[in-house]
Amino acid sequence: QPTKTAPTAATLATHDSAFMKACRREPVPHTPVWFMRQAGRSLPEYRKLREGTAMLESCMRPDLVTEITLQPVRRHGVDAAIYFSDIVVPLKAIGVDLDIKPGVGPVVAHPIRTRADLAQLRDLTPEDVHYVTEAMGMLTAELGSTPLIGFAGAPFTLASYLVEGGPSRNHENTKAMMYGDPELWGELLDRLAEITGAFLKVQIEAGASAVQLFDSWVGALAPADYRRSAMPASAKVFDMIAGYGVPRIHFGVGTGELLGLMGEAGADVVGVDWRVPLDEAARRVGPGKALQGNLDPAVLFAPTRAVETKTDEVLDAAKGLEGHIFNLGHGVLPNMDPDSLTRLVEYVHTRTAH
Ligand code: CP3
Repeated sequence: QPTKTAPTAATLATHDSAFMKACRREPVPHTPVWFMRQAGRSLPEYRKLREGTAMLESCMRPDLVTEITLQPVRRHGVDAAIYFSDIVVPLKAIGVDLDIKPGVGPVVAHPIRTRADLAQLRDLTPEDVHYVTEAMGMLTAELGSTPLIGFAGAPFTLASYLVEGGPSRNHENTKAMMYGDPELWGELLDRLAEITGAFLKVQIEAGASAVQLFDSWVGALAPADYRRSAMPASAKVFDMIAGYGVPRIHFGVGTGELLGLMGEAGADVVGVDWRVPLDEAARRVGPGKALQGNLDPAVLFAPTRAVETKTDEVLDAAKGLEGHIFNLGHGVLPNMDPDSLTRLVEYVHTRTAH
């Protein structure tokens, strides 16, 4: 049974925001909005600031992290900030030899294929990610009543990068280990759960008001395999932070068939991609959870009228939900027009104000 932990100052300051109310399934003044990948390449001010600094290096610089995290809040008026980082940062912090290659994604020097390779993974301590604590302190001071969302990659998605050595379409080495050596797989996922849980604790204690677990690639699994081979590790992560009482969001792509199980893993809010309408998603998830989503990001490339029509569809499907946080069904795309995102925030706020 997780021990109850006293609320942090940041949790108290953001308690009455629309975002936190929606997470708790309480009435809201308007539907809160934020965007996955809101901090990043769609913003010219981001590109300018990042010039000459590698992605992972920028994640370790509290001044840059703070500014990049605040940029979309200032520009779009979103209801929450998401901490600027990447899912591989905790792995880098414990000494895994990896890099983020522009246009490719995370690349791991020595992929994990055998038991001996597990030696690359040691426990994470707060000192390993002191820059996160520092940046979050600066951020919560600036953000005031606007919640800061912390995040981590879920064990399955992290394992996919570690086992494949980089981004993968079919996850063949990952599944070969999962099906062929369930004992080694179980140990790998358990270690990743420990690291992820420890990393989220650091973020909550440093001032994150909510956290999102990104299991971006877990939609590659059938429900029975998810339940057996991925869900226990994600459930462990959620258990490790349950005592804080901060909302826990659980998101993956192509996870229509897994939504019920992803809720069961321990989430308070289930993130939904654009493939399943929110009313149907609510039936799959069941009562007692808020939903987050789910406008197809590519809709933002259509004219404003079309964006509004598709947004109306999302809001109509969300009408009967216990709690709804508006988001895209996956991240902001690099070549999106930032003004279309600003207009979208305003449209959702106006349409749902009461
Ligand atoms: O959401 C936010 O605004 C916060 C920042 C954030 C980043 N990565 C910044 C980033 C978050 C939450 C992530 C999570 C992340 N990283 C995920 C899970 C979310 C998802 O999209 O499903 C995954 C799978 C990764 C791994 C990763 N890192 C990929 C696939 C890429 C893109 C590679 C590329 O260049 O096309 C990255 C790099 C990355 N992470 C960038 C940013 C802003 C781009 C790097 C740059 O600007 O040079």
